[in-house]
Amino acid sequence: MRMIPSKASRLMTGLALSAVLALFALARPNPSGAGDPPTEKNPSPIALALAADGSRLLVANQGTGTVALVDPAAGKVVAEVATGDRPAGVAIDNSGKRAVVTHWFGYDVAILEIANDAIKVVGRVEVGPEPRGVAISPDGTTAFVAVGASNEVVRLDLDARKVSGRLTVGREPRGVAITPDGARLVVGNARGKSVSVVSVGSWAVEREVPIEGDNLRQVAVSADGKTGYVVNMRNRGFATTRNNIDIGWVLGQRLTKVSLDGSAGYATLSLDPEGKAAGDVHGIAISQDGKTLAVSSGGTHEVLLFREDATPLPWRANGSRDLIAPELLRNDGRFRRVPLGGRPTELAYAPDGKTLYIANYLGDSVQVVDTESATLTKTIALGGPSEPSLARKGEALFHDATRSFNQWYSCNTCHSDGHTNGLDFDTMNDGWQDFSLTHKRSRKKVPTLRGVAKTGPWTWHGWQTSLSDAVVESFTKSMQGPRPTSEDVTAVVAFLETLEFPRNPHRERDGSLSASARRGEAVFRSPKAACSSCHGGAEFTDGKIHQVGLEDRGDVYSGYNPPSLKGIYDKDPYLHDGRARTLRDALTKGHVPEEVTGLGSLSDGELDDLIAYLKSL
Ligand code: HEC
Ligand code: HEC
Repeated sequence: MRMIPSKASRLMTGLALSAVLALFALARPNPSGAGDPPTEKNPSPIALALAADGSRLLVANQGTGTVALVDPAAGKVVAEVATGDRPAGVAIDNSGKRAVVTHWFGYDVAILEIANDAIKVVGRVEVGPEPRGVAISPDGTTAFVAVGASNEVVRLDLDARKVSGRLTVGREPRGVAITPDGARLVVGNARGKSVSVVSVGSWAVEREVPIEGDNLRQVAVSADGKTGYVVNMRNRGFATTRNNIDIGWVLGQRLTKVSLDGSAGYATLSLDPEGKAAGDVHGIAISQDGKTLAVSSGGTHEVLLFREDATPLPWRANGSRDLIAPELLRNDGRFRRVPLGGRPTELAYAPDGKTLYIANYLGDSVQVVDTESATLTKTIALGGPSEPSLARKGEALFHDATRSFNQWYSCNTCHSDGHTNGLDFDTMNDGWQDFSLTHKRSRKKVPTLRGVAKTGPWTWHGWQTSLSDAVVESFTKSMQGPRPTSEDVTAVVAFLETLEFPRNPHRERDGSLSASARRGEAVFRSPKAACSSCHGGAEFTDGKIHQVGLEDRGDVYSGYNPPSLKGIYDKDPYLHDGRARTLRDALTKGHVPEEVTGLGSLSDGELDDLIAYLKSL
């Protein structure tokens, strides 16, 4: 029996690419239930890792829940294995024989073994909620996983298949990379405006470097181990008028570098040319010789190539410019853009220092770019349906920055992965017409879109009674882009309907509530707290408008729609302008139970229990 997978994969290497893909389509595991007819899913590759000798690539397919082993020279998939719920990050050790894949919604990692072009899952370790980035030590014994919803980096002993350490870093760690000597980890905190530098030996956070940046994505380290790189966005805080957008004052894309020994601060490269920005950057890779930097831009469907040689790139220390430095626009080869289509995500450089591999999520492919000639040389198909479903069309629109004014951002920039990036913006959705530079009052926290189809009315003020209209407004006001067709809107709504909450990590293993949360539920429903009078029903909102003492002077709409409390543990910061960092802040400062209802105050114990209950929703 043990021979079957390797025999099958050897057989596959001999077949034509199309036949292999057809085989995968049939053989693709169907994690949604044993008896269901197989529905063809999009692989949606989100991450990749290249073996040290460059001969094999591993690709994490978020859509199919699989990892594909790719032979880049032959341009084909040689094996594929089902690993878990929404693969998000993958790493391969220096021997090329062992790999680790993280599962964003599965809360575990799978340990993989690779031999003779066969790949199998040999172990599984629970790591915590929403793991994404992963790196393996140079000696291959240890893996390090960024666990987003618990704000931790988790250390795994790969031989014992056990967690051997946990370290708290910044908010929502996402990308992680290790220096070639194995001494340090670089961790990008997606919602934390910081990069954490971890000392592997002493297993401690050496320093958390605050940077001017949000939405931190892939992380890379230079070959000499001295510099860490991360791609990110920066929220500038001004209203989404076309003028503000185009001068880079709403949000812009950045490449940030951090000196790992602390000898210097951080420095940034602004990436957006005026009139043709680089919306929604995602991936970063640096060539072995350090001379070429590649950044993928998921929203503008391209990879940006920067050459750092005799003339250093115009890095700006401890800050950033609004737009790309003019000197990079001279067409002298220091900055080039390579169109790719789809949604390019993670990048890896081949050992030759000029071939670049790109996971293309919406292209269901791995792409190969020759960075010397700046051309796309190969597209390796990973499978998937021949025609996109309606929801898939919506997903493409959601990630398409060319639907915004001069391609500065996509829906995904703010509603990251259909959730929230935790920031606030003035999207002119609330009727305010004050665009003065100092005016910040009309800014609203980006709401999650998980479960959004069930929680009308929409917007914080709840004035919007149609989800389709909310989508139209998002395209024309938040994005200042062209009005979507009715087919576009139907497709986006179909995509929004697919956005689910991950499993609640604050519940017991069997899904039940802790004793404290059960007491908190009683408080929640008590006449004194009366939370359920506004946050009632299956979605924890009554769909009505209430004045709860948080109105801004001059607000066009009065009152707010109680937000659904589902998944509230991960919707921070809280309240319409994100003024409360934690649930405790929300309930002791902005939204104090006795002030909301006037029916009496809660004891400290009742508040603790109430918070435990809220976290379990
Ligand atoms: C610049 C950041 C930004 C972008 C880009 C953006 N949004 Fe939003 N979105 C927001 C903010 C902020 C709100 C809250 C606005 C309010 O309540 O006044 C919001 C609200 C929404 C809502 C209502 C949610 C609710 O629960 O009430 C929907 C639906 C939505 N956006 C969808 C989209 C779609 C689809 C796109 C792309 C076409 C998009 N957004 C682009 C920031 C953004
Ligand atoms: C009178 C109606 C009402 C009652 C009673 C009420 N809330 Fe709210 N709640 C709201 C409204 C409206 C908002 C939005 C206010 C804003 O953001 O400015 C809100 C916001 C919140 C938020 C922040 C949600 C987010 O996504 O940021 C939390 C948490 C919350 N309420 C919990 C509670 C709890 C717990 C209770 C009971 C102690 C309670 N609320 C009682 C109406 C109510």
